Formats: sequence, C-alpha cells, structure tokens
Amino acid sequence: MNKAKKQVGLFLIAACLGSVALAHGGVTNPAVMARMEAMKSTGDAMKVLGTMAKGARAFDAAEARAAAADVARFAAQTPALFEAPEDDPKAEALPAIWERFEDFTAKAQETEALALALSRSLQTEDDLKAGLMQLGASCKACHSEYRK
Ligand code: HEC
Repeated sequence: MNKAKKQVGLFLIAACLGSVALAHGGVTNPAVMARMEAMKSTGDAMKVLGTMAKGARAFDAAEARAAAADVARFAAQTPALFEAPEDDPKAEALPAIWERFEDFTAKAQETEALALALSRSLQTEDDLKAGLMQLGASCKACHSEYRK
C-alpha cells in the first residue's frame, strides 16, 4: 500500500474516533445508553487496531484478529440496538435512521462483514492497515448519514 493511502486510512480512523470522549455522559434513556455503550466498545476495539497500525502498539496478529472480531460482534448488535426509535437530549442519532432503517441495517451489516473477514484473514501488518482503512470507511459511511 502506498503512503498516501495509508494516511487516508489513518485519517478515516481519526474521523471515526474523534470527539469520542464520553459523548454519552448525561444520557438518561437506558436504550440510548445501551446503543452508545456498544458504539463506544466498537470504538475501543478500533483503537486497538488503529494504535497497532500506527506503530504505537506492538503488532500482534492474534490480538488484532480478536479486536476485529469484537467490531464484528458489536456491528451485529447494531440493528437490534437501534430498532426502536428511542431518543434522549444527548443522543447523536438522526431521525433518518428510522426513515431508512433498511439502509441503516445494510450499513451495519457491511461493517460486520468487513470486520468478520478481517478477523479471519488478518496475518500481516499490511492486512491490518488495508482492513482498517476499509473498516474505518464503513463506520464513516454510516456516521455521515445517521449521526449528528
Ligand atoms: C449502521 C450505522 C453505524 C455504523 C456502521 C457505525 N456506527 Fe457508530 N454510531 C452510529 C450512530 C447512529 C451513533 C449515535 C448513537 C446515539 O447517539 O444514540 C454512533 C455513535 C458512535 C460513537 C459514540 C458513542 C458514544 O459514546 O456516544 C462511537 C465511538 C462510534 N459510533 C464508533 C463507531 C465505529 C468505530 C464504527 C465502525 C467500526 C461505527 N461506529 C460504526 C451509527 C453507526
């Protein structure tokens, strides 16, 4: 992979994880809290992959595969966690989710499929970087349409 591509990838990760810190502080609706917690855990798993890709954490293929499996697991839960149109003053979910729930579900499935494939195939640092770039783009594809 060339350098420019790598940087795009790392940028996407940063875009995904940006302003994460306790975005869900003060949420009172438990259903909203549950979906935010799942997203936060997804973000934590992505952070493991991202810090490894940047070299801030030693590359470990097994650990990276486990983190990708975590992302797949949370993505699999996403449609059920968001199905009811729950709201909270602190929620960042947009009403479009429930107007186009099929598309929202498809986007979650896309993330799940990419993460699952990565959790099975990842062996080298290049696999990690390429997979992370695709995964990061899939998070962003949903956030840019369905998250404030
Ligand atoms: C199918 C759509 C979708 C996909 C795919 C998705 N997200 Fe989200 N994400 C959301 C929505 C919607 C919210 C806002 C939830 C709310 O405020 O109720 C959110 C919120 C978050 C938050 C903030 C949680 C908090 O504490 O408030 C993080 C972190 C996050 N997502 C990370 C990720 C990462 C990393 C990925 C990819 C691996 C990802 N998301 C994939 C829809 C998605």
